[in-house]
Amino acid sequence: MIDPSRHILDAFRSRTKKSAILNQRAQAVLPGGDTRSGVFFSPYPVYMTHGAGTQVTDVDGNVYLDFLNNYTSLVHGHAHPTLLAAAREQLPHGSVYASPLTGQIELAELICTRVPGVQLLRFTHSGSEATGMAMRAARAYTGRDDIIRMSGSYHGSHDWAGASCDPDRDRGIAAGIHQHIHWVPYNDLVEAERALEAHSATTAAIVLEPVPNSGGIPVPLPGYLSGLRALADRFNVLLVFDEVVTLRLHEGGYQKLSGVTPDLTAMGKIIGGGYAVGAFGGRREIMQQYDPRTPGAIMQSGTFNGHAITTAAGMASLRLLDQPAIDRINALGDRLAQGFDEAFVEAGIPGKTSHVGSLIQVHWHAGPVNNMEEIGAGFAAVGQLPYMHHLALMNRGLFSAARGEFCISTVMESTDIDRAVMLFSEALQDVKPLAAQLSESGAR
Ligand SMILES: Cc1ncc(COP(=O)(O)O)c(C=O)c1O
Repeated sequence: MIDPSRHILDAFRSRTKKSAILNQRAQAVLPGGDTRSGVFFSPYPVYMTHGAGTQVTDVDGNVYLDFLNNYTSLVHGHAHPTLLAAAREQLPHGSVYASPLTGQIELAELICTRVPGVQLLRFTHSGSEATGMAMRAARAYTGRDDIIRMSGSYHGSHDWAGASCDPDRDRGIAAGIHQHIHWVPYNDLVEAERALEAHSATTAAIVLEPVPNSGGIPVPLPGYLSGLRALADRFNVLLVFDEVVTLRLHEGGYQKLSGVTPDLTAMGKIIGGGYAVGAFGGRREIMQQYDPRTPGAIMQSGTFNGHAITTAAGMASLRLLDQPAIDRINALGDRLAQGFDEAFVEAGIPGKTSHVGSLIQVHWHAGPVNNMEEIGAGFAAVGQLPYMHHLALMNRGLFSAARGEFCISTVMESTDIDRAVMLFSEALQDVKPLAAQLSESGAR
């Protein structure tokens, strides 16, 4: 039988010969030739060499419109002049001094002013550390160990975040951790209540992304987040929002947009202006546990926490990302989602998007996508189709996440969106033979 994806793979390999060679070389020193599982895709990831504004260029000289933006963190695109100037101004003065820095105060003040649930905060190196520290704060404050998480959720790479609903898959994660995590489906208040009824005596917090971005962007049903807030209060557990990604959706994060204020918030990505960063913050009395003057204070240190280049660029990033800028990219997100939806209809291939503002997810079925179980089942049913479409997009000069995630940066214009819709549509034509084979085989 003829492989219906052969033309896509052949085109990819012939355009990315230098990346293939680099991947071979890298495999000798980096497992799989990579250092971030999330950026790997088959047959091999391309090696990008530079980025400018809306575009990235790979080692073979292929130029891509970048709708990934380092997994949403580069909200102002690549090498934005204002962010560059902020970093450059700091560079000659050194990077860190093992002392608190004024840049940390300024960035913390700005975040505390904007984000309703954050009265005090601390910086970390990454979003992973931020979610880990927020969980630790919740456990220390309540004196309980357990966490309620959404099945299929992503909160980074530490053990409490890396643990999944399937312990057999979680190699290397201490088995004991699984006993302390209770899984509930997103968008399901009944199951959340049930979990709390069973485990509230041992549960410190409900932890979730208000809109699970890596979970395929199921949109919160009306009353869901406020319902979780009410349950947390009723059962006396903390509500922790992971806003590492969703902070970009409003000046005050998704908590401001939804009107639901969590007890603790984890942040990252956009607050670092393109450099490694994380932060966690929340109600004063919870965060006060990190005050070194407090007896029994929680220890949280990190050689590069609140790095001067990061805070300088982060400050510039957040100042640029005011509400009008956010409203603009959210509107561009609406336009992209609508264009992709229309492209599916036009191509006669089942599929649709879900999206919130500037964050867009493509699904390869037309059914409900209210939680990560539904979204995961949809992906499982279509095998290689999303991944071949991703390669077809790359062949046509559009860079996105292999799992069908797209995001908008502030340097994009409506012409970039329209171009992306056109490329998306053309790439759907590229995968039509594969889609037809799937539907003939009864896979859907
Ligand atoms: C929702 C969410 N939480 C936490 C993290 C971890 O952040 P980092 O990669 O900076 O460790 C990510 C990273 O993509 C994320 O998407």
